[in-house]
Amino acid sequence: MSKPTNQAAYLVAKNTIPLEVRTAPYTPPGPDEVVIRTHAVAINPVDHIIQHLGNIMYTHLQYPEAILGFDVSGEVVQIGQQVTRFKLGDRVVANAVGTAKNRNLPSHCGFQLYTVLLPRMTSPIPETVPYEKAAVIPLGLSTAACGLFQKDQLALQHPSVPAPKPTGKTVLIWGGSTSVGCNAIQVAVAAGYEVITTCSPRNFAYVKSLGATEAYDYNSRTVVKDIIRAFKGRVTAGALSIGAGAADKCLDVLAGCKGDKVLSMATYPTPATPPKRFVFVQTVVTYLSGLLSLWIKAKRYGVRSAYIFADSLVDNEVGPMIYEQWLPKALAAGTFVAAPEAEVVGHGLENIQRAMDINRKGVSAKKVVVTL
Ligand SMILES: NC(=O)c1ccc[n+]([C@@H]2O[C@H](COP(=O)([O-])OP(=O)(O)OC[C@H]3O[C@@H](n4cnc5c(N)ncnc54)[C@H](OP(=O)(O)O)[C@@H]3O)[C@@H](O)[C@H]2O)c1
Repeated sequence: MSKPTNQAAYLVAKNTIPLEVRTAPYTPPGPDEVVIRTHAVAINPVDHIIQHLGNIMYTHLQYPEAILGFDVSGEVVQIGQQVTRFKLGDRVVANAVGTAKNRNLPSHCGFQLYTVLLPRMTSPIPETVPYEKAAVIPLGLSTAACGLFQKDQLALQHPSVPAPKPTGKTVLIWGGSTSVGCNAIQVAVAAGYEVITTCSPRNFAYVKSLGATEAYDYNSRTVVKDIIRAFKGRVTAGALSIGAGAADKCLDVLAGCKGDKVLSMATYPTPATPPKRFVFVQTVVTYLSGLLSLWIKAKRYGVRSAYIFADSLVDNEVGPMIYEQWLPKALAAGTFVAAPEAEVVGHGLENIQRAMDINRKGVSAKKVVVTL
């Protein structure tokens, strides 16, 4: 094939706004890779966190060639020699993993027209699922899967299609209306677990439509007591905490329930409002003091707790289990839906910065998407 002309939205330096759209190299796939013409990308908090705090969190990124973007969907246009799962023209969704420290490859990042993908992090999508809907899935699903299924996290039984016999255990998913939470609810149910979750009351019906049995308002003063009461007569398989303050509350719930005392944490301690001055110092102090106080509380309550690194499933059994085995079947059978809802805010790489700004202001049970 003749080399397509690629373009990317570059982060040209630390703390730099806006992203700069310009021509980018087209990178052919390695033997075990595919290239897609990207048709939709979704925004995750980590995209703007890197843009604003890249010199703290992602020190390995190389400027001015850094590209962000984890969630992509598109059409396969080139295939490495060892790849057997895909053919040219396949419609796919994938978790782009180029920003991971052990890869650090701009060609494998999402915010560009042609992205190199790992087949084990890529799933076919049915004709009935449009690209802009599919794009909401990857990082939310990857994070949920790390927390629920990795051996160093909750280590739950894996999902299947159709779902297995109920295990009789209940998982607490704190933050069910987040992108991570919408995926976690569905994949936990698909693995045979009952789900109790939290979100704002406006999203109760939505999280229940995804499979949660009960939903509680995380802003209620009585939420911990209410959830402990709901767990009477139930056995917990552990908790997944998503959102500011969630880990602390989950520890209180786990201390008051019967079952597995395990907590998987998606959200890292960060300042309640983005600091205007001494950003580095305030961020690091909040992070370290938050880690320490949660560690002490978990030890005191006898809870095993671990933070999620959403990159980790790329190199263990959970990535292929989700993207090769479970997701293609679940999407085809309609037992898993792309959630939360996609909010398409524009077309073209020029709109990605605006989309990141919209996500940074805050969303509720929505994922901001740009079509390309
Ligand atoms: N560790 C990792 O590798 C990793 C990877 C991906 C994401 N994350 C983290 O996971 C979190 C969620 O990411 P996301 O992309 O899923 O977020 P998101 O969808 O952008 O989050 C928006 C949602 O957050 C909910 N929310 C706000 N404050 C909350 C709180 N205190 N407790 C519970 N829910 C709250 C809102 O619920 P309502 O509108 O219902 O109030 C809203 O629906 C973020 O902290 C993100 O940094 C971590």
